[in-house]
Amino acid sequence: MLHFPVLLEESVDFLINELDGHYIDCTFGRGGHSKLILEKISSKGYLSSFDKDPEAYEFGLNFNNDNFKFVMIHLKTWTSILKMTVLMELFTI
Ligand SMILES: C[S@@+](CC[C@H](N)C(=O)[O-])C[C@H]1O[C@@H](n2cnc3c(N)ncnc32)[C@H](O)[C@@H]1O
Repeated sequence: MLHFPVLLEESVDFLINELDGHYIDCTFGRGGHSKLILEKISSKGYLSSFDKDPEAYEFGLNFNNDNFKFVMIHLKTWTSILKMTVLMELFTI
């Protein structure tokens, strides 16, 4: 099934205020927003994307970008949010 990311340009333009920044996408899905974020940030920027869905993980594997990391995780508790924060620290370059 085709997937069209919601308010793609608008949301990403609103989000990015620092081209060298570290961004997170907590609902990677099929990666529409993540792809555009990676196109917009600089080579010093970084994107960590998360999703609970194994199919999303398969899409994440196809993102071949040194400034990107996908982690399959279910964000439902403070514990998982803490894990996400630690992972972000580990992946920051
Ligand atoms: C509408 S899709 C996101 C679309 C995405 N922005 C894109 O551009 O393709 C929503 C995604 O959120 C994920 N999701 C929903 N609740 C979640 C949770 N608690 N933890 C992790 N992922 C979650 C789902 O697995 C689904 O892939």
